[in-house]
Amino acid sequence: MTKKVELHYDGNIYNLPLIEGSENEKAIDISNLRKDAGLITLDKGFKNTGSTESSITFLDGESGILRYRGYSIEDLAENSTFLEVAFLLIYGDLPNIEELTSFTKEISEHTLVHEDVKSILDGFPSKSHPMGVLSSLVSSLTAFYPKSLDPNRSSEEINGTIIRSIAKLPTLAAWSFKNRMRQPVVYPDNNLGYCENFIRMMFSLPTVNYEVNPIIASALNKLLILHADHEQNCSASTVRIVGSSHASLYASISAGIAALWGPLHGGANQAVIEMLEQIREDSGDISKYIEKAKDKNDSFRLMGFGHRVYKNFDPRAKIIKKAADDVLGQLGIEDPVLDIAMKLEQVALSDDYFKDRGLYPNVDFYSGIIYRALGIPTDMFTVMFALGRLPGWIAQWKEMRENHEPIGRPRQIYTGPTERSYVMIKDR
Ligand code: ACO
Repeated sequence: MTKKVELHYDGNIYNLPLIEGSENEKAIDISNLRKDAGLITLDKGFKNTGSTESSITFLDGESGILRYRGYSIEDLAENSTFLEVAFLLIYGDLPNIEELTSFTKEISEHTLVHEDVKSILDGFPSKSHPMGVLSSLVSSLTAFYPKSLDPNRSSEEINGTIIRSIAKLPTLAAWSFKNRMRQPVVYPDNNLGYCENFIRMMFSLPTVNYEVNPIIASALNKLLILHADHEQNCSASTVRIVGSSHASLYASISAGIAALWGPLHGGANQAVIEMLEQIREDSGDISKYIEKAKDKNDSFRLMGFGHRVYKNFDPRAKIIKKAADDVLGQLGIEDPVLDIAMKLEQVALSDDYFKDRGLYPNVDFYSGIIYRALGIPTDMFTVMFALGRLPGWIAQWKEMRENHEPIGRPRQIYTGPTERSYVMIKDR
């Protein structure tokens, strides 16, 4: 029998169905509350509101658990490849060898973008932030693939759009970087792996015989896996809500990129390095910045600290911290910014303000340090995050479409003026 939750209001009792997930998460179904009791719920920032039922990613913020389709993030980061994880997220199961071979082949056959994309790219000033360029270029794919505008087409056609998105995003991302550097774009090499191809398109120049360093490719593979999905976060919710109006996958991904851009979400990795550099230039005075972060009259926040759902630790941060140590060690890099990061982490973790609020380093605290070591410029960090998050966005969009979810349209409590009569301008 379905469990119910009783709501007592205005002399009446309302029985609200209790929904239980496979990991015993519980929710009260309030979808009929307005019809039955004339009430809506109010939860700014959706801090306690479930927007959907999803079988993609499980996250337990209190225990620091993150699993994609049931597989732990630790296992996947240690043993799998990014394309294997992308397949898992999008289609629901780990691929067997034939499935992975065919998925990888299909992706490598679609990496090239239309030559006219270069004209669009040329229109952007070189100072353009690569996230803005990337979001625009992804949206522009609708012009080159007009059939993709209709998300109700056959599953084969939708799958074609999915494959093209995964195949072309590294090309568009690397080209947005080349535009910023005013360097000629590098065409994809389909003989290379996903990460190797991207690195080559980023760093190769016509004048240099570029060899991809396997340490860099392996670190990138791990970072992309760690970022691949994170259930109903700001950008995934954006992708779902944009897609719920039956906008195309490309348009939904483009919106996801825009949502990820902000410093409170994916943009934090760029903000972390900028903050650490600022501390270094300011004679490395960490305590001053800790005090600023605690001061309610100061808008400064310790970037890379805190998370909406992880209130004990971010499991991705644990893996990435070790990866940062490994990469810096293997590449023989000594980074003063990393020393500041380590000291800042120690001081913050022993401070009552941060302890009481459950503020710990998140994934972005360390990802920027690795990207720096790999030679990736600061304003490309969030683009790297977008590359990693792409399979998650696709999986969320596909699930929302397959479950025939209704258009996303929250309610509000209106607090403006009640009805007033119009007054002619001469009388005002
Ligand atoms: N530095 C200082 N104080 C902080 C920080 C921080 N980084 N984060 C939260 N707080 C404080 C708030 O001031 C608040 O204090 P109060 O209770 O005294 O008013 C308390 O901790 C709770 O903060 P909220 O903003 O209510 O928490 P919320 O869950 O809404 O925000 C967020 C989470 C946005 C991640 C926040 O911690 C933050 O701004 N962090 C820095 C940006 C960042 O690193 N973002 C990346 C997130 S990970 C990702 O998107 C991949």
